[in-house]
Amino acid sequence: MPHASIGGVNDLVLRAARGLPTPRPPVWFMRQAGRYQASYRKVRERYALPEIVQEPELAAQVTLSPVEELGVDAAILFADITTPLYGMGVALSLVEGKGPVIHEPIRDEKSVEALRPLVPEEAVPFVLKTIRILKERLKVPLIGFAGAPFTLASYLLEGGPSRHFLQVKAFMYREEALWHRLMEKLTLAMARYLKAQAEAGADLLQVFDSWVGALSPADYRRYVKPHMQRLFQALRPLGVPVIHFGVGTMGLLQDMKEAGGDVLGLDHHTPLPWARGVLGGTPVQGNLDPALLFAPKEVLRREVLRILEENGGRPGHIFNLGHGILPKTPEENVRYVVELVKEVAA
Ligand code: CP3
Repeated sequence: MPHASIGGVNDLVLRAARGLPTPRPPVWFMRQAGRYQASYRKVRERYALPEIVQEPELAAQVTLSPVEELGVDAAILFADITTPLYGMGVALSLVEGKGPVIHEPIRDEKSVEALRPLVPEEAVPFVLKTIRILKERLKVPLIGFAGAPFTLASYLLEGGPSRHFLQVKAFMYREEALWHRLMEKLTLAMARYLKAQAEAGADLLQVFDSWVGALSPADYRRYVKPHMQRLFQALRPLGVPVIHFGVGTMGLLQDMKEAGGDVLGLDHHTPLPWARGVLGGTPVQGNLDPALLFAPKEVLRREVLRILEENGGRPGHIFNLGHGILPKTPEENVRYVVELVKEVAA
């Protein structure tokens, strides 16, 4: 399947990701398909999340819904960061209101070695089929994605969502060689997974290192950065732009840039002009606080305009949130942000 190219139907995200000028910043939202949508809640009445992901027609329909309902400039594949872990032999459940729960968290060498290498065509054929269906129907670029090794390792070691990340850090400090072995396995698996998505037709890729902000810069450099460098190196020959995202990562931004990615995701703690200074010409994505989608329209408007002004019309800005859309977000406010970005910047 050919990739959407610059000069294609709606190439704004692709142009911005390459740092090229656009008539206005493109806009899409992390977690733009999810429980805040009435249409999604309706699908979820009948199907569990893994059932949606494993049924390409349904997954494609859910992926398309925010493009149709909101008019965003990109679609993001509907799956979860845990989706490829099943194919590595990990048993897990997605618990509503909580997140992924791993049935047997990794504790020792035996459980690290038990992780199987990922063969995407065998483990996640439904994801690749969803991408092929979407490429027939979409008029905006399609973003494929994967969890970054640290963020996946945090679930595998903690057994679920975590506040202090004590299990991951204790393992990292105590079992350094084994930690690197685990990170190597996850890096190789996600490189293959992302490559398969690009080959199936994904036009851009996003790597979600959602929880890496839990680490100090020194720990990031020692325990994570070399693996991220290898991951981005493996993705470069694919020729699709890659977005590198994390939360609480202001202190890691320079190192994350060095690790790789064509676009750096900025959370809402990170001032955009400051990040521009640190990153030089590297394109950025972000960074509206998802909580602002619960604010009165005039407050929301003020903050959207502030971000657009802070970017000052420079090329290489993809408008997004600082993190994913929260459940219970009013749909009309999400639509309002899309309209604002489109009309103000036009
Ligand atoms: O629209 C999209 O963004 C595409 C779909 C998507 C999902 N998960 C579907 C999903 C994406 C990109 C993800 C990535 C993901 N999953 C991340 C990285 C992004 C981030 O937010 O940092 C993480 C950390 C996860 C792990 C995860 N899966 C969590 C924390 C949850 C939420 C738990 C809850 O119930 O609040 C999930 C479940 C999940 N994945 C939902 C969706 C739409 C929740 C809705 C449901 O249960 O149907």
